[in-house]
Amino acid sequence: MSYEDVQNCADFIRERFEGDFPKMAMVLGSGLNSMADAVDDATIFSFLDLPGFPKPTVEGHAGRMLIGKLEGKPVICMQGRAHAYEGHSPEKVGFATRVLWALGVEILVLTNAAGSLMEKAGPGSLMAITDHINFSGVNPLVGVNDDRFGPRFPDVTEAWDKQLTGELKASAAEQNIELHEGTYLMALGPNFETPAEIKAFRVMGANAVGMSTVPECLTARHVGMKVVGVSSITNYAAGMTGDELTHGETMEFGAVAAVKLEQLLRAFVTRVA
Ligand code: HPA
Repeated sequence: MSYEDVQNCADFIRERFEGDFPKMAMVLGSGLNSMADAVDDATIFSFLDLPGFPKPTVEGHAGRMLIGKLEGKPVICMQGRAHAYEGHSPEKVGFATRVLWALGVEILVLTNAAGSLMEKAGPGSLMAITDHINFSGVNPLVGVNDDRFGPRFPDVTEAWDKQLTGELKASAAEQNIELHEGTYLMALGPNFETPAEIKAFRVMGANAVGMSTVPECLTARHVGMKVVGVSSITNYAAGMTGDELTHGETMEFGAVAAVKLEQLLRAFVTRVA
């Protein structure tokens, strides 16, 4: 996916959307994409129509880009995302992020469904992502580097923007929403983890585990976008309760967390956009 492919997709969108492009975009993860229905005056693009976009294959991911308003503030909502476990190349997983950048987005809000490694953060709770561990074995920046995107060796000391995370915490406090914080570890999936893996991840410093988000964060930091993120905790990680993990449970508690997440993001947009 070249620079030209990215610009080509951005041009396609520009030709079909009149008006100023939002400076903020949100990626709505598994079970969270109902929030896209809250976008007002939306111009909607199906991922199926966007040139170069990977086509989503997983249940719960509608695959649409909505350009509109939330709380009266301009935003782009990405309803669904591509995952590496679907078989897309790592570079392809980062494509949508680059298109958002080409459209002028400066702040990327990443959300996901995740398993909790913290006793205190149960299903239905929220966690601000303060750092990450890329344990997926894939990286969207692998390949010949195009300096028009960013440097060969990008610095990710502050992958997750401290100031914006502060705004997110302030938004949560203002809304009386409990917001945990911690390190998100990306596993490739598609299987959930084994109990032994979760024990190992805890030793490594992980607080939540999931199968997305890190590629988008890395792609965004490469081009210089600021990134802030929230995990919706849908379950305790494998081995913590003795129960088996199911995608159904992920969707069920995703819906519980989605209500809080929408409230949180509305407050965040009001403060920041
Ligand atoms: N592991 C990985 N991904 C997930 C989980 C989990 O426990 N829950 C939701 N997404």
